Amino acid sequence: MRNLLDTQTLSRDDALRILDVAEDMADTQQREVKKLPTLRGKTVVNLFFEDSTRTRISFEAAAKRLSADVINFSAKGSSVSKGESLQDTAQTLQAMGADAVVIRHGASGAPRTLATSGWITAGVVNAGDGTHEHPTQALLDAFTIRKRRHGADSRGRDLSGMRVTIVGDVLHSRVARSNVWLLHTLGAEVTLVAPPTLVPHDVTAWPVEIVYDLDDAIAAAPDALMMLRIQLERMNAAYFPTEREYSRTWGLDAGRLHALPPGSIVMHPGPMNRGLEISAEAADSARSTVLDQVTNGVSVRMAVLYLLLAGEQNREDA
Ligand code: NCD
Repeated sequence: MRNLLDTQTLSRDDALRILDVAEDMADTQQREVKKLPTLRGKTVVNLFFEDSTRTRISFEAAAKRLSADVINFSAKGSSVSKGESLQDTAQTLQAMGADAVVIRHGASGAPRTLATSGWITAGVVNAGDGTHEHPTQALLDAFTIRKRRHGADSRGRDLSGMRVTIVGDVLHSRVARSNVWLLHTLGAEVTLVAPPTLVPHDVTAWPVEIVYDLDDAIAAAPDALMMLRIQLERMNAAYFPTEREYSRTWGLDAGRLHALPPGSIVMHPGPMNRGLEISAEAADSARSTVLDQVTNGVSVRMAVLYLLLAGEQNREDA
């Protein structure tokens, strides 16, 4: 694997390879000494042009657990605020010896530009670009769903027969887009639930069913219910009447939580708006996988960095 830019073009084999390596990584994280020597001497740069808490820390933890050196770069307080271009920033990092660049950027397509520009030779991992994609989030979500269903027996399995319902601000969500493609590739059935104003225009080309009533979607007994954050920072207009109205109609409150069938899980990529798209009862319930998702994120990102960086062999066969 040379880069990880999206899940839309990620093959089933590559996706399963990442998930299976992530299983191995997760096993090593149960040990008292969590650090592996695998990427000693490699340098991973976290290039974050947009705010992030868990994704940046997760990539940093993943790289450090593999013994790579990590350079954290955030656009705030850097020369980017003086107008330095992506090209100049990237080339500076390259000159410092980056082997992999993990990039989060407000512009959809920035990671692909970086990977295909010829500016750098480092492998590129998309850590979220605009409203386009967030592939490692979808991979950690798939890992979490698979693990809850198959436990220690997860390796090699896809998600066929599983039903995943994604609820909320789909329009602004790169998490939703990456999940739709990956879940479909792995054989899951995907339903989207959102107010009509928060459904993207191009959705007719997506392999999903769209439902506008959350109670109907819950009555259909999904295996996983994934709540999305309302991304107020990406909204330049009123997409719903009031926050109260939103949480009443599309929020996961205690009543809806209890209407879910016994085995189904509640997911959220974080950060959560408690009381808006998800109630405290739901977020803190035994069905919630929110913290498992965070833990699994480290294993999945270890797997991605490993596949990108461990040996030239991996580089050539993808
Ligand atoms: C998401 C993101 O930044 O796309 N968060 C994350 O990476 N865990 C989702 C969000 O911001 O709502």
